[in-house]
Amino acid sequence: MTSDPLLAWRQHFPITQRANYLINNSLGAMPAGARASVTQFLDQWESRGVRAWGDGWWVLQEQFGALLEGILGVPERTVSMHQNVAVALEMILSCFDFRSAGPRNRIVYSERNFPSDQYIYEAQVRRGAELVRVPGRDDGIGLDLQRFLDAIDDRTLLVAIDHVLFRSSWIVDAAAIVEKARRVGAFVILDTFHSVGIVPLKLREWGVHAAVGGALKWLCGGPGNCFLYVDPDERSRLMPTFTGWAAHKQPFLFSTKGQDYRDDGGRFFTGTPNVPALAAGMAGVAIVAEVTVGAIRARNRQLTQLLLQEAGRQGLPSRSPADPAQRGGHVALDVPDGYAVCQTLAAEEIVVDFRPDAGLRIAPHFYNTEDEVIAAVRRIRTILDTRAHERFRQQERRPG
Ligand SMILES: Cc1ncc(COP(=O)(O)O)c(C=O)c1O
Repeated sequence: MTSDPLLAWRQHFPITQRANYLINNSLGAMPAGARASVTQFLDQWESRGVRAWGDGWWVLQEQFGALLEGILGVPERTVSMHQNVAVALEMILSCFDFRSAGPRNRIVYSERNFPSDQYIYEAQVRRGAELVRVPGRDDGIGLDLQRFLDAIDDRTLLVAIDHVLFRSSWIVDAAAIVEKARRVGAFVILDTFHSVGIVPLKLREWGVHAAVGGALKWLCGGPGNCFLYVDPDERSRLMPTFTGWAAHKQPFLFSTKGQDYRDDGGRFFTGTPNVPALAAGMAGVAIVAEVTVGAIRARNRQLTQLLLQEAGRQGLPSRSPADPAQRGGHVALDVPDGYAVCQTLAAEEIVVDFRPDAGLRIAPHFYNTEDEVIAAVRRIRTILDTRAHERFRQQERRPG
């Protein structure tokens, strides 16, 4: 084990004591502090009942949002919390009326975007949107940037891109895409789920109009804590049809005179906040804020570089960019019988994931050691050589 200073944080993440936890692009490790926060939430509910709203529950989502604003480097009160990215995306899409947009009714997106996001854009056809789905590069790894830029024109209402591609870990040139979109008057929605917490973001500098993402991956903030950032300069013209009383300027007036949208990021709230998730998630995000994304990125680059070198030695091809500047936080290895190998590793407490057309995704965080990364790669080689994954191959063939 090396003496990297960030390893001092390892003790705060109990799962690292019992597992080689390399799946931080999917679900970051739980920090020990999360248990205390959830216990506090339960104590408040038990002892204070409904008064707990006034004791802090009601404003918890704004406190969580403020932590994220710091990590995202965006102005205060520009982030709203949502249960998942699907909800956050539906929220921003509900601000657009494709039918009254005339010829500017197109959504330009990449076939490499996360499938769930694609389902959501594609559903907008029923609301009058026209779709422009841009193919990725033939190598299966990246985007063809020029082709994507060329697809954006004065008929484009929305441009929807993933910042880091979920299969290959390719970093998309968000700045170039936003620049083109702004030139023709289109609005950009950037999905940062695979970059937030691991790749520094410059949303303001790039001019991104809206961004979605979540805390459960690299931010170690558990499920149920996703977010929507909206450029404050765009906010006042956006009137979400997906709304609720928490988005009202004075929710406790219970006015029946119609929605009076808040003037800050709370404009994109819906109803009652998801207090248990928020309580569980803040400890992890606070740690990432303290460690800083810059330091995490530097460490991750070392570890993924090491991983790729070892994979090369073991004859395991990568489906991620070789250039660390082009690569996000995980590395995808093209391994035969990937699903079965993944299951075999999990049974041995080596936790990575498998995705079709990606392979085994291995995602080291700041609490992982170099030894762990090398051990995982070597074990994959041995599993393949000894066919230790055979029993899981049979399982995979079973229906259901
Ligand atoms: C890039 C990206 N976008 C969207 C999603 C879907 O997010 P949710 O389940 O929060 O809607 C995921 C899930 O992993 C993702 O990786």
